[in-house]
Amino acid sequence: MLKPNLLEAKKRKGNIETEIYKFDESLKDLGKNKKYFIKTYGCQMNEHDSENIKAILESMSFTETLDMMDADVILLNTCAIRENAHNKVFGYIGRVKHLKEQKPNVIAGICGCMAQEEVVVDEIIKKYKWLDFVFGTHNINNLPNILKNVIEKKEQEIEVLSYEGNILENMPVKRDSKYKAWVNIMYGCDKFCTYCIVPYTRGKQRSRDKDNIIKEVEELVKNGYLEVTLLGQNVNAYGKDLDSNYRMENLLEDVAKTGIKRVRFVTSHPWDFTDNMIEVIKKYDNIMPYIHLPLQSGSSRILKLMARRYTKESYLELVDKLRKNIPNLALTTDIIVGFPGETIEDFNETLEVVNKCKYDSAFTFIFSKREGTPAATMPDDVTLDEKNERLHKLNELVNKYSLENNQKYLNKIVPVLIEGYSEKDKSMLMGYTDTMKLVNVKGAENNIGKIVDVKITDVKTFSMDGEIVNN
Ligand code: 5AD
Ligand code: SF4
Repeated sequence: MLKPNLLEAKKRKGNIETEIYKFDESLKDLGKNKKYFIKTYGCQMNEHDSENIKAILESMSFTETLDMMDADVILLNTCAIRENAHNKVFGYIGRVKHLKEQKPNVIAGICGCMAQEEVVVDEIIKKYKWLDFVFGTHNINNLPNILKNVIEKKEQEIEVLSYEGNILENMPVKRDSKYKAWVNIMYGCDKFCTYCIVPYTRGKQRSRDKDNIIKEVEELVKNGYLEVTLLGQNVNAYGKDLDSNYRMENLLEDVAKTGIKRVRFVTSHPWDFTDNMIEVIKKYDNIMPYIHLPLQSGSSRILKLMARRYTKESYLELVDKLRKNIPNLALTTDIIVGFPGETIEDFNETLEVVNKCKYDSAFTFIFSKREGTPAATMPDDVTLDEKNERLHKLNELVNKYSLENNQKYLNKIVPVLIEGYSEKDKSMLMGYTDTMKLVNVKGAENNIGKIVDVKITDVKTFSMDGEIVNN
């Protein structure tokens, strides 16, 4: 058994190398005639990890089922960012238990960020003895062995490493889309914002070698992909952990030069957003005019307590620069309300920044205590009712600007990458604009997988309707 340890996970040490993923061919039939079901919680990083996990399982001959009741192996890829993510997972584990009581041969396990938490693993050992396996974010590559051990030994297999390992190249991947792809450019985070558990669950910042990233994008272009999203917890810090001067602006430029039709990147930290990056975004039409720039709080006092390394003023300056330089920019953000000690004045400053930035959309959260992070021990005297009220007020303001921004699109013709059928209405298609607006589109099926001109006919707060314009 290998359990995670929070204090160990906090340390930043060791040299990171690049390693080629190897699959033990003797395990290639382990999943023959068996099905797997995977449920993914949380961010894009987790989504992409699940794409790797699926491909690993399929290399062992498992096939995917979308119905948990039909599965032989059940895996929950979990998120630890807030308490409610936890609660959702434990709620779902209850359903898995019920199924295991009816079908004891089903193998069930959890992975992802919750698995990296000492308190969670302790709870699983104590109260969830029937769960077959747990592995973390640092050893997805070892899944074949973990499953083999579970099948052979028939005892709970817990294998969670506190440290990141080497960067693994050539991991197999079963991508969810044929048109847009996630591409990891870095793993982990060294920022240690005081509320955030990610630097513990995902380890230290490790940038992937640029040549491997560009090779992956070139391969995607060859295979007909139209869009890549460069992924990392803190993409603007790309390269700072490497021995060269090659940084995010260089990578962005080289990725744009591959000729892929659309380049996106998430998530940006305001601290690392350089003028050179803005120049590159300006220069290349295939870098999308869409930036997700987490604010977290509009109060410089709270930002300091959060260890965010910028002030309200410097954030606003950056937004101003972005807007001046990138025409048609869509700007989105993340905001936390109710951080320990947040006064009504602090909160009003957040509203003031929202009024100035007029975000296209925002993910808004109530502060959630994460055990082991510095903010978890900060005095917090704001009641939950008050926090809920602040969240509600913030959401109303955010939604007002979402709608106002969307209204500017009415009757305009915009490029949309058509991804498939609309979930709401199967007779419609759906896709995203260059500015990342969701559009439900009237048009013929043969437009799926193409970037087409769409005339916007109606707008709402969270989506738009449109029809394909014949060129
Ligand atoms: N409580 C509430 N929100 C959080 N986030 C990260 N940690 C916490 C926490 N402890 C939010 C931040 C981050 C987003 C991914 O989740 O806004 O940008
Ligand atoms: Fe968490 Fe801050 Fe790192 Fe983002 S930059 S993952 S909020 S520590």
